[in-house]
Amino acid sequence: MKKLLFAVLCIGGFLSSCATISKDSEPTAAIELNRIDAHTYSNTNEIHTIHLHLDLDVNFENHTIYGVARHEMNPHTCDTAVFDIKGLAINRVTLGKGKEKATEYIIGENNELLGQSLAVKIAENTKYINIYYQTTENTEALDWLKPSLTAGKKYPYMYTQGQAILTRSWIPLQDTPMNRISYSADVKVPAELMAIMSASNPKKKSENGKYHFEMRQRIPAYLIALAVGDMEYTSLGENCGVYSEPKLVEACVYEFSDLPKMIAAAESIYGEYRWDQYDLVILPYSFPFGGMENPRLTFANPTIIAGDRSMTSVVAHELAHSWSGNLVTNATWNDFWLNEGFTVYFENRIMEKLYGKESADILALIEFQDLEAELVRMKESDHPEDSQLKLQLDERAPDDGMTDIAYIKGAFFLRTLEAAVGREKFDTFLKGYFDAHAFKTITTEDFITYLNKELLEPKSVAFNTNEWIYETGLPENCVTLTSDRLDKMKALSNRVNEGENIFTGSFANSQRGDFTSQEWQTFIRGLDQSIPNEMMNKIDAQFKFSTEGNPALKSDWFYLAIKSGNKKLRPEAAAYLNKIGRRWYIESIYQACKDSEDPDDLAWGKTVFAEAQKNYHFVSKSTIEDILYE
Ligand code: BES
Ligand code: ZN
Repeated sequence: MKKLLFAVLCIGGFLSSCATISKDSEPTAAIELNRIDAHTYSNTNEIHTIHLHLDLDVNFENHTIYGVARHEMNPHTCDTAVFDIKGLAINRVTLGKGKEKATEYIIGENNELLGQSLAVKIAENTKYINIYYQTTENTEALDWLKPSLTAGKKYPYMYTQGQAILTRSWIPLQDTPMNRISYSADVKVPAELMAIMSASNPKKKSENGKYHFEMRQRIPAYLIALAVGDMEYTSLGENCGVYSEPKLVEACVYEFSDLPKMIAAAESIYGEYRWDQYDLVILPYSFPFGGMENPRLTFANPTIIAGDRSMTSVVAHELAHSWSGNLVTNATWNDFWLNEGFTVYFENRIMEKLYGKESADILALIEFQDLEAELVRMKESDHPEDSQLKLQLDERAPDDGMTDIAYIKGAFFLRTLEAAVGREKFDTFLKGYFDAHAFKTITTEDFITYLNKELLEPKSVAFNTNEWIYETGLPENCVTLTSDRLDKMKALSNRVNEGENIFTGSFANSQRGDFTSQEWQTFIRGLDQSIPNEMMNKIDAQFKFSTEGNPALKSDWFYLAIKSGNKKLRPEAAAYLNKIGRRWYIESIYQACKDSEDPDDLAWGKTVFAEAQKNYHFVSKSTIEDILYE
């Protein structure tokens, strides 16, 4: 009863005119969503964390993190501070530092997408709020891996994935990119393991499993990250290196040897790298992304160790986020293209600087092929409006915005702007943009104002910015690219499509190594879905797409196998789906099973998933579940 009273009296203090999340007026606090960011309950407009200190005990025996989140708040005049939680058990909440005093709190109704609000009763002078909590088996950010899923197969592993709104499932905090905080942490892990975070990191294992971390620059909540496992650090140059399991060190050193050059290239384009250190950590295969730009420490999937440096653009991408995304951050998930579109553009500039225009154009062209396919799909989907750069995801998962629109349409918008004003002026503008908004968050509307004021108006350039941002599809003035090398591969796939046996004459002895992965990708994507099994098997016997080399090609190859009704490659496809949890690589294969006219494909997909899902992070597992069972 006491709590109910608190809910009514205190929460009422910041009830405003926006939508209420709880459907009924039961005795839970009807916390309203933040007015600008619809994916948080927090009242950051009234009171916000400025520094967070974490005390964490990572327990591998019961897969639980026992934690205290110590929030230092800004000066305020509030009686309530609202935090986001999801699948967390809150044990108690206290106020003060040194001498703590318990306070009342109330947990709101659970929303499947957003989790719950945690409203804490405070006083006008409250500076410190301490939340004692533990994670549960419903903690979606965490992936606990048994030893068999690691490279070394000897020690367990755990890592977190925060973006977009999963940090609230392992730390109670104001989970909105609108607010930036510094953080520090004291973390205890089993002594045989090492802990690293998106912060200052150890270079060696400690003797007692205790680690201290500092992230002094202010970052949004989705960039707080932790990985714990058997790993070692290998320096790759001044201020950069890689954390990996000992077994992978040699492969990493080869694959990422250009890292110092990449950092230098990035700095030469948009100015100083502001995070002191840039390291990678190679996680187990279940990591649901190719890379995640956690500051100072990019998290990466081992699929980027292709053995031939063909996936290093992922590193360029995550490094580029050190400017676009981490330094200048999308204010809400509706503005996600400001993070990813800028990053894909910048990634390509880094690749161009290092490897020349031809190979950078090839990368961009492949992305453009993806975009074209995505635009066709989207037009026929339930959400054709998702092809606008500015999104409207208010009652949907922020994840729905992770499409080629934000990434590739976003990047082509910037390329087209660059073409309109010239590279030199555009670079000066972008460098100024990063400086002016460093350590700030920005909405699409702020960006448009800045663009008009700093670039288009002074240079008297007319540009269809609103069409690019607020309309669906691709504007006609989008720049185009060509590549002779890719055209040749398309011609080769056309020959196959016309029924020609390409393994005669000059092509008879060609090898996988004669072409780059991007060229092969264009070849595979150019093949008709009606390709006869016999031809596909012949190609596979010669070039070994199903068993060797670049995993992106395997994804495209297994996708084609399902589309063309080729059952022979099923064992290889199943092995691949069991090993790799990178979402973009596996979802198209499961989607092909779902879309197939042959019901046996869906049955096969479900059987594979039943086994393979044990090896996936929640992010991939839930996506595939939706595909197969929706
Ligand atoms: N920040 C993203 C990953 C992400 C986006 C996670 C949205 C959760 C929600 C990361 O930078 C990314 O884009 N990764 C890509 C890399 C690719 C575009 C080079 C990936 O994982 O494939
Ligand atoms: Zn990205």
